[in-house]
Amino acid sequence: MRVFVTGATGHIGSAVVPELLSAGHEVVGLARSEAAATALKALGAEARLGDLDDLDGLREAASAADGVIHLAFKHDAMRAGDYAGAIEDDLAAVRAFCEALAGTGKPFVCTSGTGMLPSAAPGRTCTEDDVLPTGLGLQARVVAENTAIQFADRGVRSSAVRLPPVVHSTLDHHGFIPTLIATARGTGVSGYLGDGTNRWPAGHTLDAGRVYRLALEQAPAGSRLHVVGDEGIPFRLIAETIGRHLGVPTASIPSDQAQAHFGFLAFVVPLDNPTSSARTQQLLGWQPAHPGLIADLDLGHYFTEA
Ligand SMILES: NC(=O)c1ccc[n+]([C@@H]2O[C@H](COP(=O)([O-])OP(=O)(O)OC[C@H]3O[C@@H](n4cnc5c(N)ncnc54)[C@H](OP(=O)(O)O)[C@@H]3O)[C@@H](O)[C@H]2O)c1
Repeated sequence: MRVFVTGATGHIGSAVVPELLSAGHEVVGLARSEAAATALKALGAEARLGDLDDLDGLREAASAADGVIHLAFKHDAMRAGDYAGAIEDDLAAVRAFCEALAGTGKPFVCTSGTGMLPSAAPGRTCTEDDVLPTGLGLQARVVAENTAIQFADRGVRSSAVRLPPVVHSTLDHHGFIPTLIATARGTGVSGYLGDGTNRWPAGHTLDAGRVYRLALEQAPAGSRLHVVGDEGIPFRLIAETIGRHLGVPTASIPSDQAQAHFGFLAFVVPLDNPTSSARTQQLLGWQPAHPGLIADLDLGHYFTEA
């Protein structure tokens, strides 16, 4: 297939693009700079210069492809405080792709997350069957996920890959784990909140690459898929592992100091989000093949960067 990939130069894209190429697909990656285009060409992909805001360009690229994988997200805007704007722009891009692909039967794989699922399934392990209503407002990325899935009824073989809050590997340089490590380095404490028994799911970047490829190739229209290797690691264990590698103490951070200690992650750290990928494994014939988060942390690569 000739596949148009947004976010091809990002963390997840750095696994998805080689995975597609090695399976014999042609990749056209969206690049917003000459440097990004050069990097994509060095991998053996083609580059299409453009931006997520160019919706006509996205429609044109989708129409010219046999399928689309949408990974790009305006994390820079999000980090600058405009999360709502980043969400709206993501939704606009998803709509543009779906409209361009409507009636073609071509695959569209969009990106979502597991992190919002606890509000649909409080206190239990979330599954691919858990769905949040669109009425949550534009703040929630679930609107883009639901929009893509609704286009399954309009001739798009759409699927949504839900990533856990932690996708880890040597390819991860600015996700939540490097941020937690930088926080522990900077404060001298590897922190958790409460008793730290809240659980975070995690997946390996290379497993994510595989799931995106399989979703493109074979996911039935309307599939929601989970890239989860670790169903739920107690956050305290993550903090202890980071503390052990850095040689700093691990401690519970008082709730009134959470914002000062964790910064923007203060809202994410207490997440209790046990999540299964059993349905995805069954549907795609996929199994997580790479190390879990604690084993990956113990490989040491996260701690060699300044
Ligand atoms: N990594 C994780 O742990 C994780 C967890 C849950 C969900 N996710 C989601 O997975 C997706 C991929 O994440 P990631 O970790 O690969 O992100 P990333 O490393 O920050 O990469 C973001 C990608 O989006 C591109 N991009 C950003 N703004 C753009 C714009 N205005 N126009 C065109 N392209 C633009 C970037 O291009 P440049 O190379 O030019 O910057 C880059 O290729 C995102 O939707 C993210 O929210 C990731």
